[in-house]
Amino acid sequence: MSEQFDNTAGPLTTESGAPISNNNQSEAAGVGGPLLIQDQVLLEKLAHFNRERIPERVVHARGAGAYGTFTVTADVTKYTKAKFLSQVGKETETFLRFSTVADSLGGADARRDPRGWALKFYTEEGNYDLVGNNTPVFFIRDAIKFPDFIHTQKRDPYTGSQEADNVWDFWSLSPESVHQVTWLFGDRGIPASYRHMDGFGSHTFQWVNEAGEQFWVKYHFKTDQGIKNLTQDEANKLAGEDPDSHQRDLRESIERGDFPSWTVQVQIMPAAEAATYRYNPFDLTKVWLNEDYPRITIGKLELNRNPENIFAEVEQSIFSPAHFVPGIGPSPDKMLQGRLFAYGDAHRYRVGINADHLPVNRPHATEARNGNRDGQGYDGRHGRQKNYEPNSFGGPYETGQPLWGPTQVSGLTGEWETPKHAEDDDFVQAGKLYRLMSEDEQDRLIANLSGFIAKVSREDIIERAIANFAKADENYGKRLAVAVAELRK
Ligand code: HEM
Repeated sequence: MSEQFDNTAGPLTTESGAPISNNNQSEAAGVGGPLLIQDQVLLEKLAHFNRERIPERVVHARGAGAYGTFTVTADVTKYTKAKFLSQVGKETETFLRFSTVADSLGGADARRDPRGWALKFYTEEGNYDLVGNNTPVFFIRDAIKFPDFIHTQKRDPYTGSQEADNVWDFWSLSPESVHQVTWLFGDRGIPASYRHMDGFGSHTFQWVNEAGEQFWVKYHFKTDQGIKNLTQDEANKLAGEDPDSHQRDLRESIERGDFPSWTVQVQIMPAAEAATYRYNPFDLTKVWLNEDYPRITIGKLELNRNPENIFAEVEQSIFSPAHFVPGIGPSPDKMLQGRLFAYGDAHRYRVGINADHLPVNRPHATEARNGNRDGQGYDGRHGRQKNYEPNSFGGPYETGQPLWGPTQVSGLTGEWETPKHAEDDDFVQAGKLYRLMSEDEQDRLIANLSGFIAKVSREDIIERAIANFAKADENYGKRLAVAVAELRK
């Protein structure tokens, strides 16, 4: 032991607490001889190292997180009875994990990809998770298509790379994707940092007030830092030079006390208006127009504390669209419905059956009380408490109060298409978005899209893809056709 070190931590020990005499030489059978199986220090160290990784998230593997505070700034009690929203000025602790979607854990941050926006509110009525993106819409509208869609974004089974053929084959055969694709290949497709982008709950959710009145709601988080994006060229350079660019930016800004914040807004639709709204309000490929349902500011979200340990608090963090609190519930959106199952299932596989008990995941402002017990990693927190209900030993009891209100249903079960409302088709909002863009942005959109489409090997896929954009806007389709033809000369 050298004098130059601070030795106050005490000696190294094995997992069972026995002091370790040598952490640099393994125990050998004689000088220069083979190693001994009795060297517990070596064996334990190698075995633990082999088990350091857990499966990465099947999507959104790459991300960064931070704790923060949500503060209510407007009275919304006429819309929801959720306690954390019950009073102006009320503060709730939060944890937000940002991510990209398609890349693996070791990928780069500066990619053209939606950004995940997974926000946990540690409320006194349990954790409320809002697991959205930095985009208000999505590529598809039915959960059953999600694994196929993601397979086209991830690596091809034969080439091991993302393939333009697969991406455009799927998108061109799923015309409902045109709106989200237009968004993604526009300027906002590569945010300059996690701080300089908006967040969205994306789906429609239910709010219900004390009187049982129901509303449909969409969440928007408007960045107070202003929107900043990267061009494709800037991103290509940054991804190579600093793959951790967004993660570093977030951590450093919080370290220097420059806390990023977002203005929290909602669009609110009285439940009865859903049936006649011009677009199906439960179709995730569509937005609700601001002119129909103006955004109302209800709060402020600030991120102000970095996690101490990335593995424990970010890699093992879990968020589920099924984590609701009283006053908030799901809508019949077919994507959201599928997600209500998918996340808990992923957590049980990826982090284990006791994932909810980890410090980052468990409720902070209340405690979990139920008869679920044991399983791998169980820490015995319940001691001798009874593990069943009902019981007459003072155990926890059911409330008889559903978290959200009932939904009216009718008709026969079936593999129905999402019902179309008066102005619904796959292209109308994509066309609107294209025409909203400045000429410069349209130029960049065409360049970004054509650069990617031109890599497709089959003409029929290219034609089908361009035909979809032309249905959104004739000029959009024409310009793309010219740009792609030019690149393929
Ligand atoms: C039915 C469609 C979908 C399915 C089946 C699905 C499934 C999954 C799964 C299995 C994970 C990994 C969870 C984990 O291991 O912890 C995940 C992560 C994530 N998904 Fe989805 N997803 C769907 C659609 C969406 C949509 C529409 C959005 C946003 C609007 C979204 C946003 C996210 C985010 C932000 C994460 C990362 C959560 C985190 O930071 O831990 N997903 N998704």
